[in-house]
Amino acid sequence: MTPRETTVFMKGIVKVYPDGTQALKGVDFEASKGEIHALLGENGAGKTTLMRILYGEIKPTKGEIYVFGEKATFKSPRDALRTGIAMVYQQFSLIPSLTVAENIYLAASSVKRVSLEDVKARTEELSKNLGWKVPFEYTVENLPVGLRQRIEILKALLVGSKVLILDEPTSVLTPLEVEELFKVLGNLRDEGMTIILITHKIREAKKISDRVTVLRRGLKAGTFNTLEISETNLARLMVGEEVELAIRGGASKPGTPALVVEKLKVKDDMGVLRVKEATLTVRYGEIVGIAGVQGNGQRELVEAIAGLRPALEGRILVDGVDATKLTVSERRKLGLSYIPESKLVGLALEMNIVENSIMTSLLQFTRRLLEVDWGKARSGAGDIVREFGVVHRSLDDPVKSLSGGNQQKLMVGREVNKKPKILVAHEPTQGLDIATAIMVRRRLLDLRDKGSAVFLVSSDLEELLSLSDRLLVIYDGRIVSEGAPRDYALEKLGLLMGGVIEAGQE
Ligand SMILES: Nc1ncnc2c1ncn2[C@@H]1O[C@H](COP(=O)(O)OP(=O)(O)O)[C@@H](O)[C@H]1O
Ligand SMILES: [Mg+2]
Repeated sequence: MTPRETTVFMKGIVKVYPDGTQALKGVDFEASKGEIHALLGENGAGKTTLMRILYGEIKPTKGEIYVFGEKATFKSPRDALRTGIAMVYQQFSLIPSLTVAENIYLAASSVKRVSLEDVKARTEELSKNLGWKVPFEYTVENLPVGLRQRIEILKALLVGSKVLILDEPTSVLTPLEVEELFKVLGNLRDEGMTIILITHKIREAKKISDRVTVLRRGLKAGTFNTLEISETNLARLMVGEEVELAIRGGASKPGTPALVVEKLKVKDDMGVLRVKEATLTVRYGEIVGIAGVQGNGQRELVEAIAGLRPALEGRILVDGVDATKLTVSERRKLGLSYIPESKLVGLALEMNIVENSIMTSLLQFTRRLLEVDWGKARSGAGDIVREFGVVHRSLDDPVKSLSGGNQQKLMVGREVNKKPKILVAHEPTQGLDIATAIMVRRRLLDLRDKGSAVFLVSSDLEELLSLSDRLLVIYDGRIVSEGAPRDYALEKLGLLMGGVIEAGQE
């Protein structure tokens, strides 16, 4: 093997933000020519901060940076671009009101003098090599995110970047788009580029990278050849403790129907028909999962089931009772519990932890009408924050003082601890650290084993595959497939979700 040619070397990087946050506590990082280097870590580990420093956008508090063997002191991203380093952000830096051509030209001309014609010609050549079509005359605001990302990558290549940093690039893509992106990144790597891919997804790092550096709470937990480290060990390094990645319940014992949806049609806020015809059944003692690319009607479906959105046509039965026209609280009385996708729906941010912890089950806490048993409520709230690890100062603090992840834990813990007969869970683990996410998944399995019905809507395919007893796929407002999780390879699931194939056609 030829020795690695180091392109980027960062040494002893410390970053303390003006508000006192110690984002990086002395990190070394090295990347070389012709590799895809994954920078892996949980939310808040310091990944973006480290790369913004390399890109010259923020200054390190301490530490040194060498690029192509020379000490670098970038004053701005423009200096970094001139040296050959480009970064594609989670939030793209395109100007929405300009066309694609104008955006690319603007980026190229900020680095050196070029003509618009020249930029167009070279972009066309570059995109042809990558197998991409570039809609030069389109205004950026009309483009889907997948395309915007490609424009960002083209911008970087056009200015001759040798090091390309991508910050969580797959979070906005469908599984098919992810495949395409990875193929292009692989080609660029083979041509000698250094690609640094920021991600919090272990499987993604494992799949695409040659080496992986793990960050944990502002410190480097290690750098490895990707082939030589297992997913379990990567997870352990990320969270700093032993975690078990694969959890799977035993066989389910489905009972009578708990939640039945018949030929349901639902409109969104704009009056567009989003659920075009959905029919499904969730029985007691089973978890039914639903997979789909965001925006295919799952939100409207779930909101109609919960009672937050009217059904245009069709029926919803909760525990055998026609609930189609019932209010949210009438459905709750029938045993339906709901974890919404948005904390703004699920929590009252100005109210305190105790108040929030009883919001959805006032009946259980009142002795007489509207007389709350605060002692009982307080001890219940205490159970939730303890079991779900909600980091807080006092139970009397308003929920808005909690971080997003801790709000999520409170919202999930409240519904799970009620031991609901029927639980509709929409993205229950989003924003949670790995250890808590696994704990939540266990609790969902536990509910199932004790006889509850769980309807799980999640964009985390691994989560769906490991928890569901039956899996549905929704596409364009219709359930297009139903089966046991073992019947779905990830690839097939991606094709169904993207509407590329229909059930029974493989
Ligand atoms: N501009 C900022 N000011 C203050 N703190 C910040 C800023 N940006 C990030 N942080 C904090 O620094 C830590 C690392 O954040 P970040 O680099 O974004 O992590 P990651 O990309 O791994 O999720 C977090 O605690 C985050 O809240
Ligand atoms: Mg980040």
